[in-house]
Amino acid sequence: MSETTSVIDVCIAGTGSYVPERILTNAELAAKVDTSDEWIFTRTGIRERRIAAEGEFTSHMASKAAERALEQAGLKAEDLELIIVATITPDTPTPATACYVQQRLGASRAVAFDISAACSGFLYAMKISKRLISDGAFKNALIIGAEKLSSITNWEDRSTCVLFGDGAGAAVLRRSEPGEGSIVATEMGTDGNLTHLLMIPGGGTACPITSENVNDNLHTLNMQGKEVFKVAVNRMKEAAEKVIARAGWHPEDIACIIPHQANRRIIDAIADRLAVPNDRVFINLDKYGNTSAAAVAIALDEANRTGAFKRGDHIVLVVFGAGLTWAAAAIRW
Ligand code: ACO
Repeated sequence: MSETTSVIDVCIAGTGSYVPERILTNAELAAKVDTSDEWIFTRTGIRERRIAAEGEFTSHMASKAAERALEQAGLKAEDLELIIVATITPDTPTPATACYVQQRLGASRAVAFDISAACSGFLYAMKISKRLISDGAFKNALIIGAEKLSSITNWEDRSTCVLFGDGAGAAVLRRSEPGEGSIVATEMGTDGNLTHLLMIPGGGTACPITSENVNDNLHTLNMQGKEVFKVAVNRMKEAAEKVIARAGWHPEDIACIIPHQANRRIIDAIADRLAVPNDRVFINLDKYGNTSAAAVAIALDEANRTGAFKRGDHIVLVVFGAGLTWAAAAIRW
């Protein structure tokens, strides 16, 4: 599903992020499961990840990231019209985490709901809110990717527990003024034939949660990593190529690519296939691991605040996740 032009241009007016204080290093994990810093870093590029405190929920992290994005955008919470939270680790199955965020921020005028598209959720939220703003339904939107993956990680499974972390990233979208940036092109896709490659088997209607299946870890993320890896490289490359072509850009025009932060080898393969030099690819997964929907949002905020791109630059965001899902966005900053 794609789009190029819309009547009203939409820009990103501010970004924000938050990660919990607690750092969990590869060495600490190696003391718990049969792994090593060398294996984790060589196979994934991850050195450490953040772990939320016990009483720290997804909505807490989401709200902190949101406050920073609102501040940068110069927008008051009470003037927000739409809040979308992308998460697979909501505070509660219902109501939506976005409702808790609305309450925390005091954004009483905003319509608030969640979407579930795993690691692709932030860019799904970007496309949805871009369209709702450009159609005139809302003047602005706060989109957030927020996850407490530590709560759905099987800490005895070395093939997954080394990968994930907690955190949140946010962006404020609004109508562009003349001379401002624009979300130029977006792309999203889904392959429901591959649901089995990456899933939490228990806790839904297919397998309601019981004490027995909690003991069997059915409430935790289960992944066939090698198969996901192959699909990820192909789909992310295709999605990025589509938005670059629709924007009318060439690889040499791109100042910064911000990919989903799952695996350094996946990122390198995509940069190579897109012919974008490595120094234009933003990477922070060494510090945070894979934070699912939050990953690209945190990376966007860090890239923005550290000057990885400037006003007018062309940037590309590209992601994939459970579903399997994927998405990309070409943005003139
Ligand atoms: N430490 C040491 N050895 C390990 C570990 C570990 N932490 N994990 C697995 N191994 C072993 C395996 O048991 C296997 O041993 P064997 O050869 O004796 O059977 C060997 O290492 C190789 O395992 P593979 O799974 O083939 O390793 P691979 O190189 O594929 O790396 C990884 C695994 C890192 C998971 C990789 O496949 C990957 O990153 N896949 C993509 C995952 C991803 O990006 N998911 C994103 C979406 S997440 C979401 O949507 C929430």
